[in-house]
Amino acid sequence: MAPRHREVARLHPPRAGLYSRLVTPPTDDPTAPADSALVAPHSGRLLVLTPGMGAVATTFIAGVEAVRRDLASPFGSVTQLQTIRLGRRSENRSPLIRDLVSLAPLEDLCFAGWDPIPDNAYEAACRAEVLQRPLIEALRDFLVGIAPLPAAFDRSYVKRLDGPNVKPSDSKHDLAEALRADIRDAIVAHGASRAVMIWCGSTEIFLRPAPCHASIEAFEEGLRRNDPAISPSQLYAYAALMEGIPYANGAPNLSADFPALEQLASAQRVPIAGKDFKTGQTLLKTIIAPGLKARMLGVSGWFSTNLLGNRDGEVLDDPDSFRAKEVTKSGVLDAILQPSLYPRLYAELHHRVRINYYPPRGDSKEGWDNVDLFGWLGYPMQLKLNFLCRDSILAAPLVLDLALLLDLARRAGRAGVQEWLSFFFKSPHVEPGHVAEHDLFIQHFRLKNTLRILAGEKPLTHLAEDDDSLS
Ligand SMILES: NC(=O)c1ccc[n+]([C@@H]2O[C@H](COP(=O)([O-])OP(=O)(O)OC[C@H]3O[C@@H](n4cnc5c(N)ncnc54)[C@H](O)[C@@H]3O)[C@@H](O)[C@H]2O)c1
Repeated sequence: MAPRHREVARLHPPRAGLYSRLVTPPTDDPTAPADSALVAPHSGRLLVLTPGMGAVATTFIAGVEAVRRDLASPFGSVTQLQTIRLGRRSENRSPLIRDLVSLAPLEDLCFAGWDPIPDNAYEAACRAEVLQRPLIEALRDFLVGIAPLPAAFDRSYVKRLDGPNVKPSDSKHDLAEALRADIRDAIVAHGASRAVMIWCGSTEIFLRPAPCHASIEAFEEGLRRNDPAISPSQLYAYAALMEGIPYANGAPNLSADFPALEQLASAQRVPIAGKDFKTGQTLLKTIIAPGLKARMLGVSGWFSTNLLGNRDGEVLDDPDSFRAKEVTKSGVLDAILQPSLYPRLYAELHHRVRINYYPPRGDSKEGWDNVDLFGWLGYPMQLKLNFLCRDSILAAPLVLDLALLLDLARRAGRAGVQEWLSFFFKSPHVEPGHVAEHDLFIQHFRLKNTLRILAGEKPLTHLAEDDDSLS
């Protein structure tokens, strides 16, 4: 066990939630490298809990049901479609990831969530206008049955939104306890054997870690005295971890990325991951920038602007919520291009990011990028990118992959921050003292090698096809 985890485990023995009673972790060591023998196999139903049942969550839920009914294909999902090479190329062993590791099949997923807006998943999907109406109608019988639980919601943290479906209490401690009770009840009601929680709620205002985030004790004291530095998303994250349930944050706001909840995750032997789903413009940036750098092409400017007309865009129109997004979007290029190592190529880089709320565009976001680059002898060039993407269509498969992989990590006894899931995030949550990796290809390499290790296979180096000592 790593010294940090050992110390946390000594100070904070795990507290039993319903989940921990249902699933016995296969190992006592939260950081032990798992192999297939150590991964408890999937059985029973996996409940996917989403705080927030808006565009992303309903596109995910409806999409899973559409695939189950054979009405559509799960394009964009690594767990459903991607293969993984094992051994040397000449061995021709490339199973699907879902055949290599024990993932919950789509048939065994069930769903529950919270939202201050009382629309059921059918109504919310219609309102989001992401999926075409005939598909939503074909799934209506299923979607109307998924109604949001009353949310732990506070307008001070999401200013451009309001709704009546909220828990009445003002006490953060009581709200956290009520969320824990919801989780236990939902697991029982769905007959689930396990659960995972993915935050699909609105982007909250930008918050920096405060003293109440420094330790589990300080956080619990903060709950009792209603510390304003504790936002609703942190209440959900805390409730999930207390119940032994993996948690991922799909939004850019502070949610589980501070010492108190990192310690709680380690102590409870629960994986956490974050933050901000890597979709749209940032996805393209982390695909293109590593290529420019690999070829030693300089970049003097990267201007990114977005037109976004969905409810997320409206929430981000509030400067405090936009600030949270701006921070996660802006860090990407510096981390990939490393201007301190390559000052002549990247030290003068001007990086600007704008998000414009423009209702006619709806969920079909338009991203514009202008890249000013230079090559041999300093000769300038320009790259123009116009990405007409669909925000929630890109985000929904990430919710699925994260739910399945966090559940796998939980059954493998992996606890705390799951850096190998950085591939899915704009602003990867890493262990204190670690540097976040943003390059999509390095993230992908690490994701696949971790899956190989979880399956008891050798990680690949791609160094030498026929040299056993290297490959
Ligand atoms: N779509 C993408 O490509 C993408 C990419 C990265 C991140 N995100 C993030 O994912 C989140 C969801 O995006 P969306 O497009 O579905 O937004 P949305 O506005 O359609 O849905 C968010 C939902 O969260 C609910 N909500 C707000 N506070 C809540 C609380 N305290 N408890 C429960 N529910 C709450 C809102 O009522 C709303 O229904 C946003 O934070 C967004 O920034 C989306």
